[in-house]
Amino acid sequence: MSTISGVQTPAEPEHPALRPVPLRAIWKDVRRGGPLELLDRLAREEPGRIAQLRLGPFRPLLVTHPDHLRHVLRDHADNYPRGAAMWSALGRLTGDGIGGEGPQWHASRQILQSAFSGAHLRQMSGAMLDGITAGTDELVERAAAGPVDAGTEMTRLVQRVIDPVFFGDLIPAGEGDRLGESIATAMGSLLWRMALPFVPHAVPLPGDLAFWRATRTVRRILQPLLAEARRHAVPEHSVITKLMRGTGADGRPLTDQQIVDDIVALFVAGSESSAIALTWVWVALAEHPEVLEGVREEVDRVIGDGGLRRDHVRELSYTRMVLREVLRIYSVGWAVPRMAAADDVLGDVPVRAGTTLVISPYLTHRLPEFWPDPLRFDPLRFTRERSRTRDPLAYLPFGDGVHQCLGEAFFLEEATLVVAELVRRCDIAVADPVRPKLSLTVQPRQPVRLRVAPRA
Ligand code: HEM
Repeated sequence: MSTISGVQTPAEPEHPALRPVPLRAIWKDVRRGGPLELLDRLAREEPGRIAQLRLGPFRPLLVTHPDHLRHVLRDHADNYPRGAAMWSALGRLTGDGIGGEGPQWHASRQILQSAFSGAHLRQMSGAMLDGITAGTDELVERAAAGPVDAGTEMTRLVQRVIDPVFFGDLIPAGEGDRLGESIATAMGSLLWRMALPFVPHAVPLPGDLAFWRATRTVRRILQPLLAEARRHAVPEHSVITKLMRGTGADGRPLTDQQIVDDIVALFVAGSESSAIALTWVWVALAEHPEVLEGVREEVDRVIGDGGLRRDHVRELSYTRMVLREVLRIYSVGWAVPRMAAADDVLGDVPVRAGTTLVISPYLTHRLPEFWPDPLRFDPLRFTRERSRTRDPLAYLPFGDGVHQCLGEAFFLEEATLVVAELVRRCDIAVADPVRPKLSLTVQPRQPVRLRVAPRA
């Protein structure tokens, strides 16, 4: 095993079950159409086979078949902790709580699991509905002046929901937006650190200055909020209250730093991904008018002339299927890295300790074995009957196993209500064609402009 600046690079065995992807081929795809071109080619050729990306000494394995995912995420999860490149860079922002691994992650997970439980979601629903209605009012008002940017608008809407759910009424108007923007800046400025994980932190990289500035702003916003929350009673159901009452791995109450870290980690995990997924919803509905018609028919039938209510979510089954199909096709979180702690065999492929594995929901969601005609947008793939007969690991937009997304139910409820409220009140069209690109998430290549008009 060799070492480059502290990163262990195991000598990779050639193995017939492994599909090597040489640097030359990677470079050709990336030059032609960006990293998504490479991913799309891998989806078409030999789907499900473990691929090894030969990026010089860094040779991550792309793992996509449900049998292999079951091995890594469920049956041998202890051998595949996060410890990979992306996570150590993100850890500078999110600390060692819910964004990390080990005992403090476990303690934070326990606390936050209850904050996002079904019972808790019920208590949050008033705040969620108020946020969605107010956010939609604002959107409609802005859209009267001309097309609006879907990314910005969906981020605002998500923020309107998150603010009261996370902080009760403690957060001043506009401060939540500033917090979200600073966290997004801090995360964006970590890209070099993620790409070059072997560079020691003492060596400056582009983005470092922006990172420190943004994290300083984040702490300047969150620390007084926390002090305020400790002085005054905040709503029982807010996430900040749960964290204040929770205990850490040492059995003692979480410190201010740990609470701030967990809140930042929740923003990182949930805010941008939700806004991007909602942005893709409008693109998908614009490209499939018959699906939009189905959603509209369901929304009108279920909600009628009355106001939006939480119990509508259960009845909006087609709308929920549309959301699931959007998350299949666009797979916002396209890559979930892990690192092998000890030597192992995955399928028939030997995996050396220290190897990075990249789970790719984007590729899994295109396996023809589980998704016939995988590129066709078809919400009916998610009828109860068809979902029941499919391997559950063929669909993992929210991950799987011990780190499975804590915000899945929260997102699906929020997104169903957002789509229902907007479709109920507005005619929405996408002004220009949109193509995806690969960054930390699967994002639109160019801004998505929405034309929004009140429904006649
Ligand atoms: C479309 C929206 C979302 C997508 C696609 C998404 C996707 C994911 C994925 C793939 C993971 C697994 C990461 C891993 O295995 O290492 C994850 C974890 C997580 N997500 Fe989400 N997520 C979304 C929304 C949310 C929301 C709204 C929240 C909370 C407000 C949230 C909170 C979390 C947390 C805390 C974790 C880490 C859980 C742990 O490590 O134990 N997510 N998410």
